[in-house]
Amino acid sequence: MAHFEEGTTLDRFLMETMRAHPGATGHLLTLLKQVALAGKLCSSRVQRAGLAGMLGAAGGMNIQGEFVQKLDIYANETFKRALEHAGVCCMIVSEEDDGAVFIPPEFPVGDYIFSMDPLDGSSNIDTNASIGTIFAIHRRVSEGRDGTMADVLRPGRELVCAGYIVYGAGTVLVISTGKGVHGFTLDPTVGEFFLSHREMRLTAATRSYSCNEAYAAQWDPRLQEWLTRQKAPELGWSARYIGSLVGDFHRNLVKGGVFLYPPTAKAPKGKLRMLYEAQPLAFLAEAAGGAASDGVMPILDKVPTTLHERTPLYIGNSEAVSEIVWALAGDEGPPSGQWTRRG
Ligand code: AHG
Ligand code: MN
Ligand code: MN
Repeated sequence: MAHFEEGTTLDRFLMETMRAHPGATGHLLTLLKQVALAGKLCSSRVQRAGLAGMLGAAGGMNIQGEFVQKLDIYANETFKRALEHAGVCCMIVSEEDDGAVFIPPEFPVGDYIFSMDPLDGSSNIDTNASIGTIFAIHRRVSEGRDGTMADVLRPGRELVCAGYIVYGAGTVLVISTGKGVHGFTLDPTVGEFFLSHREMRLTAATRSYSCNEAYAAQWDPRLQEWLTRQKAPELGWSARYIGSLVGDFHRNLVKGGVFLYPPTAKAPKGKLRMLYEAQPLAFLAEAAGGAASDGVMPILDKVPTTLHERTPLYIGNSEAVSEIVWALAGDEGPPSGQWTRRG
């Protein structure tokens, strides 16, 4: 792989990475450039969200119908518009659309399927906390013009790329094609993403857990016991929870930690969605030396059966995820046998 210095633009990074793959068509590069463009548009809109709220409260819609749109609808439409023109996708799956979205007949299609949570953590918009866009990219296995369910209802290991854009104090795009995880920070004065986080690794050095602890009494008692054990002062754990998966995952990727969303009475299969939340973040976690599990098996080995299927999620540094899987398995150990207990 080429050597990349800090300050490398996303475009240069993508071009030089592509050159290292002689057979590459450039379609994935085009797709990711459109993702970056949509991310910049969303970042700009997120920064004006408070203003948007003021205008809405003062009397509704402006003449373009602009600010009153909820940000998650804005993000959904922005990513779809950016991608449908580019001729690189044959299908788009979004949290905000019940069915798969196909490319209008006036545009060419390509081999990729883009699955997204256009705005994750949207309940945080009003509080200025981090929110983001999560995405997964498959290469099609079907033939014909439109993509099919067979193209996306696949194990996450078959993704060609995954990433997210977090709109926080700064806007950061994190991507991986399976080898290494890299972060790019948007310089708003230049309008470009620059390499800022090279070869991100999920470290076990910082011990923090992220979960909605108000639900803990609804969890499997063995998981409750695991959490109680982490609170022993000598272990030095902290709790950190934003309530925005993308923000919580990003913090854990930068600083270390584990995120948990176990099944609850209200969400017996968990709350988070396989295709555009769990799978892409699991792909990033494993590429960064971490792990992701549904409590029994690695997320990347699971095959979703519907577009909006949910899953329990335990994701972060591999030691903590492995401990959770062992705890949930009780004395028997996990059935998959592929998780090692920390010595
Ligand atoms: P979304 O905004 O896309 O619907 O996702 C919200 C999710 C996720 O970001 C977060 O981890 C989780 O909801 C928080 O749920 P609780 O409020 O139940 O903790
Ligand atoms: Mn979400
Ligand atoms: Mn969402």
